[in-house]
Amino acid sequence: MKVAKRLGHPDLGLGLGLRTPHFEYILEHRPRVDWFEIISENFMDSQGRPRHVLDQIAEHYPLVMHGVSLSIGSTDALNFEYLKKLKTLAQEIDAKWVSDHLCWTGVAGQNSHDLLPIPLTEESLAHVIERIDVVQDVMERIFVFENPSSYVGFTGSTMSEWEFLSRMTEATGCGLLLDVNNVYVSARNHDFDPEEYIRAIPHDRVVQFHLAGHTDCTTHLIDTHDHPVIAEVWDLYRLAHELTGGVSTLLEWDANIPPFEELHAEVLKAKKYLQGEGVQGPVVEGTCASASAQELSVSPHPLHHSAVEVE
Ligand SMILES: [Fe+2]
Repeated sequence: MKVAKRLGHPDLGLGLGLRTPHFEYILEHRPRVDWFEIISENFMDSQGRPRHVLDQIAEHYPLVMHGVSLSIGSTDALNFEYLKKLKTLAQEIDAKWVSDHLCWTGVAGQNSHDLLPIPLTEESLAHVIERIDVVQDVMERIFVFENPSSYVGFTGSTMSEWEFLSRMTEATGCGLLLDVNNVYVSARNHDFDPEEYIRAIPHDRVVQFHLAGHTDCTTHLIDTHDHPVIAEVWDLYRLAHELTGGVSTLLEWDANIPPFEELHAEVLKAKKYLQGEGVQGPVVEGTCASASAQELSVSPHPLHHSAVEVE
């Protein structure tokens, strides 16, 4: 039995992030993709065309929801109106699970539209645990949290991110979305061993993987989601797959989005990597200048992070 099934989350196979430029193609061709992940906020308030398309796609594919606005690490009060909408959408599209990031996105009512790193301290851990308990009570389901990519850290941090995640999942019973590329990006930016990270997290709590490409700015990496997955990340993915027993895997691509078939081919490389074969990805040019202004291809939320120089 695969480990993830202990949490009741099925292995959906190899999926793709659902992005607006591919709506028509998917509706017309109904490609043999195992499943799709949506950005929750893009559909929570919309009853227009995006929602109409989503309802059609939901008839044919398993869906999971991935949010960017929960702000679990913030000191602002949880937004119960947001949670209510999240819960309603999850019920309406029969989302297999709902995820967000271990981060904060704003404070004092101001939204930075960035996924900001949290201090890795006992106080912060207790704060996050308390809030996850509330979120899971309101949502009436296990919530899933993704490890963010980060560019700066707090000098006051007293534990590693993998220890924080382990204790957080132990205390709350929440699930983990392991973004393998984020581990690699943060490892390079903060000079830790990505393998140690992946070996240390609680493998029985991982319900999903993310794969993505990033931009190498030499002094630091930026999680731009606009390149093919690099070989080192595929190697980490293979390790994570072994340790977890294999869970649902999703490719994220949010800028310079290629045609659907090209995107699908990229995630299907996972099959070859898991069989131990190396795969040469296409060369895609990218610059650090353009990477600093990445925005999600679907409104209204910019994705992830501003480019912050790492000292
Ligand atoms: Fe991710």
